[in-house]
Amino acid sequence: MTRNLVIVAMVMAAWVWSTNGQPRPPSLTSSSSSVLLREGQNLTLECPVDGAGDLRVQWFRNEQPATEKGSLFRRLTIDAVSRADAGAYRCSAENDVGALVSRAVNVTVSYLDDFGAVPEEFWQISASVGGYFVLTPPPLRANPLHDIAWRWYFHDAVVFPNRTHFVSSTGTLVVLEASAEKAGPYKVEATSALGRVSSRDYVVEMNSELQNGAFSGGDPTIALAPRDTVFVRTSGQRELVLECVAFSRSLDEVVINWHHNGTRIVPDGIQYELEQFSRRLRVNNPSFPKNSGVYACEATRSFTSAKGQAWVEIYEEPEITSTMPPETPGSLGQSITLPCRARGWPRPLLKWFKNAVPTSKSIAEDGSLIISSVTEEDKGIYQCEAINAAGSTLSTTWLRTEASGPVLSERPNNVSVTVGQEAKFL
Ligand SMILES: *[C@@H]1O[C@H](CO)[C@@H](O)[C@H](O)[C@H]1NC(C)=O
Ligand SMILES: *[C@@H]1O[C@H](CO)[C@@H](O)[C@H](O)[C@H]1NC(C)=O
Ligand SMILES: *[C@@H]1O[C@H](CO)[C@@H](O)[C@H](O)[C@H]1NC(C)=O
Ligand SMILES: *[C@@H]1O[C@H](CO)[C@@H](O)[C@H](O)[C@H]1NC(C)=O
Ligand SMILES: *[C@@H]1O[C@H](CO)[C@@H](O)[C@H](O)[C@H]1NC(C)=O
Repeated sequence: MTRNLVIVAMVMAAWVWSTNGQPRPPSLTSSSSSVLLREGQNLTLECPVDGAGDLRVQWFRNEQPATEKGSLFRRLTIDAVSRADAGAYRCSAENDVGALVSRAVNVTVSYLDDFGAVPEEFWQISASVGGYFVLTPPPLRANPLHDIAWRWYFHDAVVFPNRTHFVSSTGTLVVLEASAEKAGPYKVEATSALGRVSSRDYVVEMNSELQNGAFSGGDPTIALAPRDTVFVRTSGQRELVLECVAFSRSLDEVVINWHHNGTRIVPDGIQYELEQFSRRLRVNNPSFPKNSGVYACEATRSFTSAKGQAWVEIYEEPEITSTMPPETPGSLGQSITLPCRARGWPRPLLKWFKNAVPTSKSIAEDGSLIISSVTEEDKGIYQCEAINAAGSTLSTTWLRTEASGPVLSERPNNVSVTVGQEAKFL
């Protein structure tokens, strides 16, 4: 009984080490591509590798070593992170057979400090009765900015969006049909999961006359134009928001229509939604290339119109479309091509690693790596990495060289067999 257990344990140990007696290099396990944490929290990253025996691990931040080489600990811990610790983290893991790198993890450290300094004039706004005015928040020292909720106050009462008041997703307030009652103190508040910061008062003064007879004919004008936008599909946002506010002295007669690449957008409640008098366009789950291009808002009143437009780029993280098997057998003297094709936007850069070291040797124009005559030195782990501004991904194979004779196994080197039983260690 005990004897059998010993054998079972040994067979299992041999199995972990190898399926055929040959020692194996480390392999990658799945890992997340991004981590979001607050300043002061502890960062813990586990090197996503499997492998028997002692793996020697090293961590890198933005490709610079962050830990000593050769550590037996797979985990990286940074106590009380600061915003300076943000970056792309990855590890390399090595054993006697080969070495590989892990996929980079984008570590974002969130914070909410305060509004930055602005000149005194910033707080003084003069508007014309019958016109409109626009108040923008001071620069906010916070990360990530797309998580911020904005709220404006007038005389300490919350400004709710309506026909004459609009608050944009980036915090800009537009007040239409300016009048004496709309003069006075305004202030803006930014809120995130980390807390809330408040600005000092803006002072809005009203001039009684419209300058230069502007807007007198009721012709529409764009008070807030849509902004050029880069939408990163991996950043946790699900929708692209474009905003446009038009003004006219005959405000009720103004109609806003949106166009994409010159084609009118019809809200369908699925991909396209219009809100707040069509001032806000939501594009749900946008993708590249379909939803990139020019977005224009057109404000029309009777036979006159005004137009604002913005360029939208959709970034998509790379995806490797060619496949490499986990193991590539290579006979000595043979020629081998390891493929690497990727899609994504901006167009991904391709980079090859051999045993965790970048290699630029024999890369073909299409990104594949060519070994014209396999030698013993060529064996090891090959990884192709596709990188763009939205992220990175890896494709990995272990190139094993095969001599014609049987491969001598290094392990298990201690085989005990119970008499009368058969044990196989292939
Ligand atoms: C962070 O790690 C330190 C030391 O390891 C520990 O004392 C502290 O409680 C940890 N903080 C959090 C928020 O877990
Ligand atoms: C629109 O909102 C503003 C600010 O909240 C308010 O002062 C104004 O009375 C509102 N207008 C209408 C027509 O409800
Ligand atoms: C709009 O134009 C952009 C840029 O030329 C293009 O990438 C995109 O596919 C176009 N989309 C549609 C729906 O026409
Ligand atoms: C990392 O995350 C930040 C914040 O979410 C983002 O701005 C940046 O583009 C990301 N970088 C990569 C390479 O994914
Ligand atoms: C082989 O087995 C012997 C006796 O069980 C043990 O002392 C020795 O450490 C083993 N050697 C290896 C390399 O496992």
